[in-house]
Amino acid sequence: MDVKALKKKIDQKKACIAVIGLGYVGLPLAVSFAKAGFKVYGLDKNHERVDRIRHGKNYNEDVSLKDIAILLKKKVFEVSGNLALLERADVIIICVPTPLKSKYTPDVSYIKGAVETICRHLRPGKIVILESTTYPGTTEEFIRPLLEKGGLRVGKDFYLAFSPERIDPGNKKHPVTKIPKIVGGLDAQTSLLAKTLYEKIVSRVHVVSSARAAEMTKLLENTFRLVNISWVNEAMMMCHKMGIDIWEVIEAAKTKPFGFMPFYPSLGVGGHCIPDDPLYLYWKAKHHGISSKFIKLSADTNDKVPRYVLSRLHQLLKARGVARKKPRILVVGVTYKKDVKDLRRSPVIAFLELLKKVQHQVVYHDPFIPYLSIDHLDMESVTLAPQEVRKADCVIVAVPHTKIDYALILKEAQNIFDLCNIYAGKNKKVHKL
Ligand SMILES: NC(=O)c1ccc[n+]([C@@H]2O[C@H](COP(=O)([O-])OP(=O)(O)OC[C@H]3O[C@@H](n4cnc5c(N)ncnc54)[C@H](O)[C@@H]3O)[C@@H](O)[C@H]2O)c1
Repeated sequence: MDVKALKKKIDQKKACIAVIGLGYVGLPLAVSFAKAGFKVYGLDKNHERVDRIRHGKNYNEDVSLKDIAILLKKKVFEVSGNLALLERADVIIICVPTPLKSKYTPDVSYIKGAVETICRHLRPGKIVILESTTYPGTTEEFIRPLLEKGGLRVGKDFYLAFSPERIDPGNKKHPVTKIPKIVGGLDAQTSLLAKTLYEKIVSRVHVVSSARAAEMTKLLENTFRLVNISWVNEAMMMCHKMGIDIWEVIEAAKTKPFGFMPFYPSLGVGGHCIPDDPLYLYWKAKHHGISSKFIKLSADTNDKVPRYVLSRLHQLLKARGVARKKPRILVVGVTYKKDVKDLRRSPVIAFLELLKKVQHQVVYHDPFIPYLSIDHLDMESVTLAPQEVRKADCVIVAVPHTKIDYALILKEAQNIFDLCNIYAGKNKKVHKL
């Protein structure tokens, strides 16, 4: 099938789409294409995940279980661990993880695994699109040679593009279909193909001149967040020393109608993206002789926040006359951000470990995480009952989940260390970060 025939097939929604990796990114994407009228295969090598989706037990706040059930019943969406189904796909979209091997080194083994599988099922006339966040050059320098090993040529026999996923899990205001998509193909005809495809599910597709420009776009966005979150955390530390309320300052700065975007202090950055993605860029830039001071400094600054918060907790306990050697601390919220069930790289985990290390009695409450079995932690979420709150020498509000009864905490707690400015410091027992 030539490029024109494939474009026509996509345009008429007769193209069959396979999404590899049904995680936070792949599942909402696969569902969006199926809802738009395409036949979609959702493929994942994790059979347990496949079974959960099939049986309506998947947890992903961004897709409705009802939608999935309807699409599965209509057979427009099939989920499977059988990657041989790639044979049937005209469009193959890769949404696999891109973690770090070590602090400053990317781990592209998941991409490699997925591409090697595709290679076994690559036939002329297919388009392969990578959505996983990665360093500039991955699509052209790393994936292309792997796919061409079988003898087919990119741009002639098959097509290859990069299109970064920009979702913000849990953000109801900006679902996957409302976020403009960036596409960059290895050539102009491929970019056009990818644009035609994504226009079926999103209202705006922005085409860039190359796959590496698309890869860099995503890293520019995520590095921007990392740098600004680090900066606001450093500003928070300065403000505390100078007796200034950082939260008040941010509110004031926000009144400027241009040139300022608010970021807020926290225990640091978490999730699959912001802590890791900029380090992909850091690694790649090093190969070009550039050691990015901004990225390294930002990553290192954030890593230090849990220790800083611990020292502030100790100052607070001392000031409030808590002399117990092993104070009881109740941490509220442990996920990496508000209203998601995702613990990946949550800075609260590092903070809980620190609390344990200094022998504090630590308990936590999180409506999304009934059990915490991660790193060196093995804990159960306590019920947010008046007695539990009263028992704590300090309650630390670490993540501002909507579902939490903050009025109860305010009523019952002896001391509150409010890392999220939930209470806006309106009470003597509340201490702001
Ligand atoms: N989670 C986010 O908020 C977010 C946002 C934008 C971009 N991204 C990027 O998207 C990519 C995917 O992230 P995610 O959060 O969806 O990851 P995830 O861990 O939630 O899901 C990835 C899935 O891929 C599967 N998988 C891995 N290798 C496979 C293979 N060879 N064949 C079949 N299945 C395979 C895994 O079993 C897993 O279910 C990453 O590069 C990430 O940086 C994530």
